[in-house]
Amino acid sequence: MVDILTYYDQHPINEHAVHKSLLREGKSLEHLVPEDLFPYDQDHYGGLDAVDALVRCASIGAGDRVLDVCSGLGGPARYLAHRHGCSVTGIDINRSRALASRRLTRRVGLQNKVSFVCGNATRMPFLNESFTRIVSQEAFLHVGNKVALFSNCHRVLITGGCFVFTDWVASPRLSDRERALLEKGMVAAAIHQESEYLDYLRAAEFSDVEVENLSVWWGKILRERLEMYLEKSEETERLFGVARYREFMDAYEIFVGVIEEGKLGGARFTAFRPA
Ligand SMILES: C[S@@+](CC[C@H](N)C(=O)[O-])C[C@H]1O[C@@H](n2cnc3c(N)ncnc32)[C@H](O)[C@@H]1O
Repeated sequence: MVDILTYYDQHPINEHAVHKSLLREGKSLEHLVPEDLFPYDQDHYGGLDAVDALVRCASIGAGDRVLDVCSGLGGPARYLAHRHGCSVTGIDINRSRALASRRLTRRVGLQNKVSFVCGNATRMPFLNESFTRIVSQEAFLHVGNKVALFSNCHRVLITGGCFVFTDWVASPRLSDRERALLEKGMVAAAIHQESEYLDYLRAAEFSDVEVENLSVWWGKILRERLEMYLEKSEETERLFGVARYREFMDAYEIFVGVIEEGKLGGARFTAFRPA
């Protein structure tokens, strides 16, 4: 069974792949602007439109201090700072992702607005009430301890602040066997039903929780993602080996299968720390 660090150390979306795509476009890595990275550095569904949806839900503006929990390669953090003017801190458990995030951010000159910390979202190294907004995309399925995750999010958010995240949600029809396969192949440590997420959020003392179902949108996107990963087969095999790429794709195909059967879907949750 692959662990969370290996899964993202050997993921088809990585710094090397970003560089390769840019060079293929004829770009010089020494003269990049943030827009050059955006087609390649977002590791969630729906690209920049999805980040803009978070901005609308949480009314993110230039004065905000935003925390991106499980920030990946830092694409959403850079976009938020560049397009919406806020300052952004990303936290990710994976050292190679946190370091790559910093390098990519320096390449496009956003290092004064965007910073990254390598750390676990269940033990965040931030002072209480450090952030005015918290965002996260397609990552909480990896975090087994939701009580610690949400109590950390609550603690580091100012009173009156908004927390918005998207993630996979299970239907009651997702079987234990399918859950086990997703855990083994994609490190999906804890996939919840919508009602369980609502319970976790309320138990962490978030209020005014709203949910938007994204299943239809994500269902369409997923096929495109599968195609994108197929196109990256040669490059990913060269970087991490044929066996690892095959293992990744086998798990991804199980994932696509349960989504197409309606056993797994997506949702966006918006909640507030009461004033
Ligand atoms: C699908 S990627 C999403 C990246 C980013 N949110 C984006 O939209 O581009 C999931 C990320 O969650 C990170 N992650 C998983 N478990 C974590 C944890 N407990 N604490 C912090 N980061 C975590 C992984 O290392 C990975 O970079």
